[in-house]
Amino acid sequence: MNIKKIKEDFPILKRKIHGKRLVYLDNAATSQKPRQVLEAVREFQEKHMANVHRGLHTLSEEAGEMYEQARRTIAGFVGAEAEEMILVRNATEGINLVAFAWGLRNLKKGDEIVTTVMEHHANLIPWQQLTKAIGAKLKVVEVTDEGVLDMKDFERKLSKKTKLVAVVHISNTTGTINPVKEIVEMAKRVGAKVLIDGAQSVQHLGLDVKKIGGDFLAFSGHKMLGPMGAGGVYVKKARQEEMGVFMTGGGMIKEVSKERAKWADGVEKWEAGTPNVSGAVGLAEAVKYHERLGLKQIRRHEKELTEYALKRLEEVKGVRLIGPREVKIRGGVVTFVMEKIHAHDVAQILDSEAVAVRSGHHCTMPLHRRLGLVSSTRASFYIYNTKEDVDRLIEGLKKVKKVFK
Ligand SMILES: Cc1ncc(COP(=O)(O)O)c(C=O)c1O
Repeated sequence: MNIKKIKEDFPILKRKIHGKRLVYLDNAATSQKPRQVLEAVREFQEKHMANVHRGLHTLSEEAGEMYEQARRTIAGFVGAEAEEMILVRNATEGINLVAFAWGLRNLKKGDEIVTTVMEHHANLIPWQQLTKAIGAKLKVVEVTDEGVLDMKDFERKLSKKTKLVAVVHISNTTGTINPVKEIVEMAKRVGAKVLIDGAQSVQHLGLDVKKIGGDFLAFSGHKMLGPMGAGGVYVKKARQEEMGVFMTGGGMIKEVSKERAKWADGVEKWEAGTPNVSGAVGLAEAVKYHERLGLKQIRRHEKELTEYALKRLEEVKGVRLIGPREVKIRGGVVTFVMEKIHAHDVAQILDSEAVAVRSGHHCTMPLHRRLGLVSSTRASFYIYNTKEDVDRLIEGLKKVKKVFK
């Protein structure tokens, strides 16, 4: 991969912060957008703007075709059919959609949902809410001190009562890559359905829903070079047949009388209201960008950067690394704490050096508690990051240490 050429596609990377070249290492929170995505969104807005589904005029037909083409491209990226891809705002909305439309309908008192302590709050709170509402039970699988999923505990917590397993593919905090194929196989043995949170994985590692065999997969476009407010949730056809509605209103109906409504067939049923057409068009362009580079190459580059970053961080005295040391089971996320220095102070001093990282609990409070932490600092990589960016991070940390000496 030609990183220099890739960087040229991202206008924001030319920005200077406090007079220094921006080093953007907050990709797990959101990614930057290449000009191809920005142009696709602009072209839609400038030349094809119209509402979809409801119009017969040329612009509306064009917008409708572009939206459906985007759906096919986005679905194809994760090995799904267009009829299995519901376009939503983000992973959070996708998971809530499954909790309401499928969970409320198919779970009852006494049933169990199994999730893990390493989940982002987006894949934990909807299950807390759902199990409370129906009198079901939520079981939370533990991790090792390294932040690796405890598969023995997972096996112990699975039973005939388990109706759903909700698990993250790559942790946004430890970077741990969970063995989702094995998890799906184990869940299937007890007859449970599986939701995979792919918010950190579909763009960095790739995931084929047909090969993995899960029932639901949620992801966010803004974390994968696409616009904010555009994402997807894959729902297997057989699960769709078991689902009720989520949000109701225009666009998701077949027929409406004063008293009742009949729902549209297919994925439209879960896309009430005007969809984010320009967002979907931009996300499809982002998908193509990944496909041109190749997910294997993307993974290889980020793995190399992660290995380099871990090695360099180990050299900084007083830094405690969080998550597995082995990069084979780790995505491009490097999280750490500095002895006696608060994560917010670390991030603030790094910002003065134009190095953008995230500090806090990264929406994984239970995991932080399990690892004995209140907050941490996270650097996360993407295709436009380089070893020089890691060096800038290390230089910044040396400044942090000097300030707090
Ligand atoms: C693993 C994981 N799941 C879910 C989410 C929620 O994503 P969004 O805020 O785009 O809905 C995030 C965001 O950081 C995440 O890292």
